[in-house]
Amino acid sequence: MERLFYFYSMKKIAVFTSGGDSPGMNACIRAVVRTAIYHSIEVCGIMQGYKGMIEGGENFIEMNSRSVGNIIQRGGTILKSSRSKEFMTPEGRKLAYDNLIANGIEGIVCIGGNGTFTGAEIFYNEYGIPSIGAPGTIDNDLYGTDFTIGFDTAINTAVDAIDKIRDTADSHGRTFLVELMGRHAGFISLAATIAGGAEQVLLPELVEDHSKVVEFFKGRTNTKKSFSIVVVAEGNEEGGAFKIDEMLKAEIPGFESRVVILGHIQRGGSPTAYDRVLASRLGSGAVEALMNGEKNKMAGLINNRFQLTSFHDAIYKRKELNPDLIKLVDIFNC
Ligand code: F6P
Repeated sequence: MERLFYFYSMKKIAVFTSGGDSPGMNACIRAVVRTAIYHSIEVCGIMQGYKGMIEGGENFIEMNSRSVGNIIQRGGTILKSSRSKEFMTPEGRKLAYDNLIANGIEGIVCIGGNGTFTGAEIFYNEYGIPSIGAPGTIDNDLYGTDFTIGFDTAINTAVDAIDKIRDTADSHGRTFLVELMGRHAGFISLAATIAGGAEQVLLPELVEDHSKVVEFFKGRTNTKKSFSIVVVAEGNEEGGAFKIDEMLKAEIPGFESRVVILGHIQRGGSPTAYDRVLASRLGSGAVEALMNGEKNKMAGLINNRFQLTSFHDAIYKRKELNPDLIKLVDIFNC
């Protein structure tokens, strides 16, 4: 196969994972390592994200094709992850720079979310080491890609849980409030509401408050439905599932309910086929972007096409929830 000419020749790059882990990060690491080797570039894996970059030593690992064998199906990240406060200080970044130079690193692929890319951009401005990001977060809250790595697996996990909750909700004729992850974003909650057939959802992006849920239950007395699932996004303005449950109980006499917080279960597990393919394309594309002299950009897929977006836009531009899905929640509520 003919190899394309790349603008910028690099001898060695590094890859690391940072922030909250997400299913598919391993598939992405594998893609980065194998693409670099394919192009005769050496690759170093940095353990524990920015923390390992600062601490140096054994956190810098030479990688080859075999180091990423048998990981495409594994959740978590073989390179481990962390949220480093020290990297937010100039002293921390100086130590990180010294370690990169000592290891001959000329470019970086960072797999993570907002915090990861913010750190990478500051680092480039201070030390000139180029980075390309791959969006690894279950939240799907990054502008410049239709889906982030791990989102698809997380919503499947959430839907699987909702299906099980539905069985017991049906048996006991109860309402369940299910809180799903997503820090300040409702992507997981909205998708899981549609796929899990939940009746109501409270999302951080919408101005509606719990009164819409109160109205829903009050108006339901003459329907034959005996149980319900209400999804509450963790970043919901009025509070999480326990808080909403309290409010509903105060306003609806005899309201019978249970609360489930799904939590970190959503971050684990084997990635779906979709996440593996996405991670493979973005990891590989990130290496080739570095080879083309790109920097401070995030690799993404928009309408199934590879695209680079500046870190600035990926972090600060707001990715909107799909209004068609919001409308479906109301339509299916009859
Ligand atoms: O960003 C991914 C995420 O799982 C969010 O959905 C959640 O708010 C946060 O990370 C939890 O972070 P931690 O694992 O540090 O508690």
